[in-house]
Amino acid sequence: METYTHSRDHVQLHDRLFTTLLPAEQVQERVREIGAELTGLYREKRPLFVSILSGAFVFAADLMRAFDGDCEVGFVKLSSYSGTRSTGDVQTVMGLQNDLRDRHIIVVEDIVDTGRTLHFFLNHLRSQQPASICTVAFLRKPEAAAFPVQVDFVGFDIEDRFVVGYGLDYDGLGRNLPGVYHLSAP
Ligand code: IMP
Repeated sequence: METYTHSRDHVQLHDRLFTTLLPAEQVQERVREIGAELTGLYREKRPLFVSILSGAFVFAADLMRAFDGDCEVGFVKLSSYSGTRSTGDVQTVMGLQNDLRDRHIIVVEDIVDTGRTLHFFLNHLRSQQPASICTVAFLRKPEAAAFPVQVDFVGFDIEDRFVVGYGLDYDGLGRNLPGVYHLSAP
């Protein structure tokens, strides 16, 4: 049976201990702020939120509910991560059903680490000739400079430590945590 303990300051997932980085209230406040900014920019444009699965599904769900206007949502599944280290390759596993031509696209990503995933996906998107592309990342690590990628809205810039919660997982666990936790120092 899996070990799962949860307290205010730390959680244990599998064999690792994580400590609080961003409490749930702080996360929700920032999501509301970004939602309000997007509303100002896109209220009359019926944007299509494109959520990169799996990690961004929680952020995308909250973000689109913080958007005050007509909007749609679509999902794309890409993969580049296994355990706590990037595997290097980015592959499209599941494509978008929506027609993107002349649409205003808001790409929703959970975390930009090296930027490889977003870089790859933006190239793919541009070839579909949307009217505009805006990128929103819930978290960004300093390594994001490794791949040239434009991130228009960032929830939080964080240090280069593995994090879980608010959609992000450690080998399948932790996505349901409402706050963000980082790996405790060894
Ligand atoms: P990138 O392609 O290197 O920018 O990696 C982006 C993807 O790696 C994210 O969408 C996450 O799924 C995953 N990832 C990167 N850092 C973390 C982390 O600290 N915790 C959990 N997943 C992460």
